[in-house]
Amino acid sequence: MGQMDRLIIAIDGPSGSGKSTLARLLSERLGYLYLDTGAMYRAAALGARKAGIDIDDNQALAKFCSELDICFMVEEGAVKTLLKGEDVSEEIREPEMGMLASAISARPPVREKMVELQRRMGERGGVVLEGRDIGTVVFPRADLKFYLDASLAERAQRRGKELSEKGKKVELKEVMEEIKERDHKDRSRDLAPLKKADEAIVIDSTDKGIQEVLEEMLGYLIQK
Ligand code: DC
Repeated sequence: MGQMDRLIIAIDGPSGSGKSTLARLLSERLGYLYLDTGAMYRAAALGARKAGIDIDDNQALAKFCSELDICFMVEEGAVKTLLKGEDVSEEIREPEMGMLASAISARPPVREKMVELQRRMGERGGVVLEGRDIGTVVFPRADLKFYLDASLAERAQRRGKELSEKGKKVELKEVMEEIKERDHKDRSRDLAPLKKADEAIVIDSTDKGIQEVLEEMLGYLIQK
């Protein structure tokens, strides 16, 4: 791979667009680090809830962020999210944690802290970062930027399947409402809203399989 060794690859898009799966597969294929930045916001949300922090209280939130301890660990091939050393990978996947993460991610002290952490973890390259603002804010000079999208119905279907496979009972209509609301919040916030970076390659995965999208992404990579 030679000079492809240390690229920074950004994948942004709304929830359920296939970002996580593709970022993971791409990083495995390339032997790159995989950074799920949504998991970081989810862990921050969980930490704030556990500590009883009012997220509208700037001072309390800033203090909470300065002490925030989030890291990733690979265990048996799977990436685990640790909050103060405790494995919270399962807990942060609850649908309500998505909503809480979306709310807390709109707060300035939280974004500041996360962006700093993400830059530090990614600056040496050889990394695939996935989120909402990677190509626009975290690494505006990323070597390759993708914007993944899919129809709302398809995204809800995927999310619903994911949850029911984990044994959670879900109503498709509710999942769709949740995604719709969260998308709206993530797109309309003042700070680092979800949007396509100018140079990002848009891939609509509505009628595509994972392998197909992966090959498409690898195709763009080879052109680099
Ligand atoms: O990707 P996800 O669904 O796990 O992300 C949860 C929330 O975190 C999402 O609704 C918005 C926020 N987020 C963000 O603001 N910026 C990112 N780079 C990643 C996630």
